[in-house]
Amino acid sequence: MAQAATDLEGFRLWPGFLSRAEQEALRDDVFARMRGGPLYIPRMPKSGQPMRVRMTNFGPLGWVTDKEQGYRYQATHPDTGKPWPEMPPRVLELWSELSGYSAPPEACLVNLYESDARMGLHIDADEAAWDAPVLSISLGDTALFRIGGPVRSDPTRSVRLASGDVCLLGGASRRFYHGVDRILPGTSRLLPKGGRINLTVRRVTPP
Ligand code: SIN
Ligand code: FE2
Repeated sequence: MAQAATDLEGFRLWPGFLSRAEQEALRDDVFARMRGGPLYIPRMPKSGQPMRVRMTNFGPLGWVTDKEQGYRYQATHPDTGKPWPEMPPRVLELWSELSGYSAPPEACLVNLYESDARMGLHIDADEAAWDAPVLSISLGDTALFRIGGPVRSDPTRSVRLASGDVCLLGGASRRFYHGVDRILPGTSRLLPKGGRINLTVRRVTPP
């Protein structure tokens, strides 16, 4: 598979890395696992403002946020109190194939974007394993992803992430501001109700 070069240091994009059949299989696996760990509404620290994206996690740790305790990783679902479902095997394979990191990932954050959802510019900063890259898998409608540099005011660029695309924030880009400007409704028929699922795969603790 050809790898698109970019001048964002350590950022890699593999357009269409997953075939349509692989996207369908991963979608079905994600939906099946979500029965044991349903989507919930994350809330911003302090304000308690609901985020537009709905979330759940797979794997030993999950990223959560609420009004009282803010951003963190924990081993249990905030609503059910149960451990997160296990990570899909295909996600573990993609990590070992593409991340270049020797230890397995610990968290697979599932973000569901409905057509009007977006995600503001942020840096992924809640992981002690700073040397590990972040792997991102896109399913469903295309996202306009924005990525800049280590300072919020750095110039940014827009990258389209379509269904089946996989990207990696490694090297310097691991600490770059990024977010999702918007979703392009109707660009994919993978998800029955439309929208987009992003799987963000991370190592949290140093191995
Ligand atoms: C994120 O940065 O947490 C999500 C990025 C994406 O949805 O592509
Ligand atoms: Fe992020």
